[in-house]
Amino acid sequence: MLTGWRDGGVAYTSLAGRIRLLALDGRVAAGTRLPAERELAAQLAVSRTTVTAAYAELREAGYLLSTRGSGSVVQLPFKVPVQTEFQPGFLDFSKATLPAIPGIVAAAQQSVEQLPTYLGDSGFDPVGIPALREALAERYTARGLPTESDQIMVTIGAQHAIALIARTVMARGDRALIENPTYPHALDSLKAAGARLVPVSVTSDGGWDELAIEQAIQRTSPSLGYLMPDNHNPTGVTMPVELKQKVLSLAARHGTTIIADETMGELGLGNDGRVLPFAAHGSAILVGSVGKTVWGGVRVGWIRADRTVIQRLVRARSAGDLGTPLLEQLIVLNLLRDFDSILDSRRAYLREGRARLERLLHERLPEWTVPHAGGGLTTWVNLGHAVSSQLALAARNEGLVIAAGPRFGVDGAFERFLRIPFSYSADETERGVDALVRAWATVGRHPFAQPAPDFASSVV
Ligand SMILES: Cc1ncc(COP(=O)(O)O)c(C=O)c1O
Repeated sequence: MLTGWRDGGVAYTSLAGRIRLLALDGRVAAGTRLPAERELAAQLAVSRTTVTAAYAELREAGYLLSTRGSGSVVQLPFKVPVQTEFQPGFLDFSKATLPAIPGIVAAAQQSVEQLPTYLGDSGFDPVGIPALREALAERYTARGLPTESDQIMVTIGAQHAIALIARTVMARGDRALIENPTYPHALDSLKAAGARLVPVSVTSDGGWDELAIEQAIQRTSPSLGYLMPDNHNPTGVTMPVELKQKVLSLAARHGTTIIADETMGELGLGNDGRVLPFAAHGSAILVGSVGKTVWGGVRVGWIRADRTVIQRLVRARSAGDLGTPLLEQLIVLNLLRDFDSILDSRRAYLREGRARLERLLHERLPEWTVPHAGGGLTTWVNLGHAVSSQLALAARNEGLVIAAGPRFGVDGAFERFLRIPFSYSADETERGVDALVRAWATVGRHPFAQPAPDFASSVV
């Protein structure tokens, strides 16, 4: 966690600054005992005086409580206020989301008219209304993956699906393969299900580390693997077809159940965006959602798997919830009739957003490395310095909420990276970049600025 702590300033101040950030970021939890001064000095190859001075500075600022005989324990000198609502005018780039599609109100009105057909039933629906399961199965079939409706389970969004699969398919203590960086709340779900994580690297320029993924499966035989093979969040890269096939055949041989999260699978921006569902290449559980295509406010997702898996998931579901809301399901059913044109318009909008963000970043923050994202809603920018947490803190003071790189990492890595969405309007994107430019100018100069409030919000 201290890799790259030297920022060119006075050594003890730099060290104290980095430890303070780790505490503020929650990556070193309050209550954690820091290594003894002598031990840390040896590990960092600095003099003991440097560590003593860094600890003294942290103690003075209230970040460290040292007790004779029991060492130095991290604490926060104040309670970081948690806000559940944004201050007016704040931009929230911790969410890569699109504005709702224009047709949503009409689809909702239509749903209200269709509702009476369902009012005779209990309304508790743990598997999905038949018409929606049928429509989703037809869509998979049309996309090249023959599917029957009993292979579909409708869920309350993709997040619900991931968490349900994780706690059903895996036992506590099992290994789970995960991309690094990854979608943070999938990481949360796997951790909550007791997974021992086996991270494999994904980069904007190189994609998946093929050797690492092969070795991870061969050596650790994980019981689960969570992947985003098309338009990976946050990098936007897509796995080559040969690698998809290879991963699935290795997984089959080693008893690894692969979950492919296709929440953004159809948001490829390079061609027409059409892509074979991942399970067309071998056995995998697919997760889908309308959250990133229609609107995050329609909380509907789904799982496509073998019948036996669907039945297991349905049995396990009631421990957490009792079904997907009917009105929401009807909205999705109505929208599916014209889904390809919804996707086409989303991809056109995102292509514009991507070009705009790339242009603004090249102009205003030329020292950053901005990859050309192949799909999805975000770009994974390399800042060139390990200051992402600092930058994210400074951005809050400029009215921008953005998740720092380590939020997407398994082990606190990615301090040099920042995920920036290109899914916002021209005006919002410009304001966001303005805020980043202002924040960037302060980073490094005021390493001990007071933290902005921590927003109790999700990173999607
Ligand atoms: C890759 C990925 N999976 C799942 C989700 C969650 O989807 P939902 O809103 O359907 O729960 C998100 C964010 O929205 C995401 O980016």
